[in-house]
Amino acid sequence: MNPPLAPVRVALLGHGTVGGSLRRLLHEHRDHVRLATGRDVEICAVLVRDPERHRLEVGEALAPLVTESLDVVLESRPDVVCEAMGGLEPTRGHLLRVLGAGIPVVTANKQLVARHGTELFARAAEAGAQLRFEASVCGAVPIVRMLRESLAATRIERLLGILNGTTNYMLSKMEATGAAYDDALAEAQELGYAEPDPTEDVEGLDAAAKLAILAGIAFGTTVDIDNVRATGISGVRAADVAHAAELGYRIRLIGRAERLTAADDTTSVLLDVTPMLVPIAHPLATIVGATNAVLVDGDPFGRLVVQGAGAGGPETASALAGDLVSVMGSEPSFLTTDPHVATLPIAPADARRDRHFVRMQVVDQPGVLATVAGALAARDISIERVLQQRADDGHATLVLTTHPCTPGALSAALAGVASTDRSVLPMLELA
Ligand SMILES: NC(=O)c1ccc[n+]([C@@H]2O[C@H](COP(=O)([O-])OP(=O)(O)OC[C@H]3O[C@@H](n4cnc5c(N)ncnc54)[C@H](OP(=O)(O)O)[C@@H]3O)[C@@H](O)[C@H]2O)c1
Repeated sequence: MNPPLAPVRVALLGHGTVGGSLRRLLHEHRDHVRLATGRDVEICAVLVRDPERHRLEVGEALAPLVTESLDVVLESRPDVVCEAMGGLEPTRGHLLRVLGAGIPVVTANKQLVARHGTELFARAAEAGAQLRFEASVCGAVPIVRMLRESLAATRIERLLGILNGTTNYMLSKMEATGAAYDDALAEAQELGYAEPDPTEDVEGLDAAAKLAILAGIAFGTTVDIDNVRATGISGVRAADVAHAAELGYRIRLIGRAERLTAADDTTSVLLDVTPMLVPIAHPLATIVGATNAVLVDGDPFGRLVVQGAGAGGPETASALAGDLVSVMGSEPSFLTTDPHVATLPIAPADARRDRHFVRMQVVDQPGVLATVAGALAARDISIERVLQQRADDGHATLVLTTHPCTPGALSAALAGVASTDRSVLPMLELA
């Protein structure tokens, strides 16, 4: 019988919600890890800001080394470093040093991967070390592994995702109860889904960072997060949700990355995060609550959909642990090259023609619908359906859907129509 392999020495950077969960998970499920890899995991060091607090909190159960110094962590000779400290600095500098020393890294840090992925992947490739980041996107949902490994020998055409659990919770609440946006936000904050400052979530910035990471892998291209067009849900009214339901749709904040091929055969990538009307029979319309989901279309696999918990300490820790197991089980050369091999241009917003939902408060006078139809026709936009609701105060709510048109043409057409309140949302097709 072969002698047992030496335990894998793991250093944790961060011991908060996610890092603490990871330490507990690796202890509670050590038999599963051994079963998968044939090796035990030994935590050799933990990096925090305040070592005393953590030593007192977890006592003897914690690793022998709890420190605020990365030098001390590196001196403990880790085989793998798990990063769950968050933030851009000093985390970026720490990971560059760790990777530079040839030590594989698994991270949960979405902002860091989205903003500094190029630099980190270059360092990892130089040193021949893996940089894995499953936990940085969609918590427990194994979408990075699916794109990078399961679908490695395929061509991905399109990826659609509900990438932010907070906004999905709010939209499903508005839909189920008729709640106003502000009430849905207040409840999400009470439940701890939304931060006291909810900007990152409700303005689509969190989803944009995740989309940048996913699109980068799906299309093998470098994506600058600032090139992802992001519109959040703060403009979505209870009336939009109700009218969408009347038309057979649900509103979801959708991150969309799509390969577009122009007539001259040049390829670009359309990238946006925006609230969309999703047909009720679409797989993404059924996703309710603080859940994430990603749908991928491509060749030859067709369509794949994954969904699950997008955040939470143990859920995110399970993704870090999965990456750790993958590092332990892979050849030294596996996934050590930078996945971003191309630089595909980002398609302009008007490269895509969608059907649109339009809701407007207009002065209730004869001919108002004809005026709107005329303004649209002048830009070659035809109306598909009209719902009109009369109000008592001399205003009417006009709700219509258009045939496919560019967002630029629609916005130009509506610029000349007087209205007191207006929503314009693209519509997702069922196929
Ligand atoms: N929480 C979630 O549900 C979730 C979901 C997905 C991804 N993530 C990502 O996971 C990462 C960690 O999130 P979290 O919620 O676990 O954060 P957290 O609870 O605030 O924990 C952060 C940990 O990192 C340590 N730390 C922070 N800055 C440090 C520094 N400069 N030097 C040394 N240690 C430092 C902290 O030490 P002290 O304890 O001493 O302050 C703490 O132990 C973030 O990138 C986050 O975006 C979190």
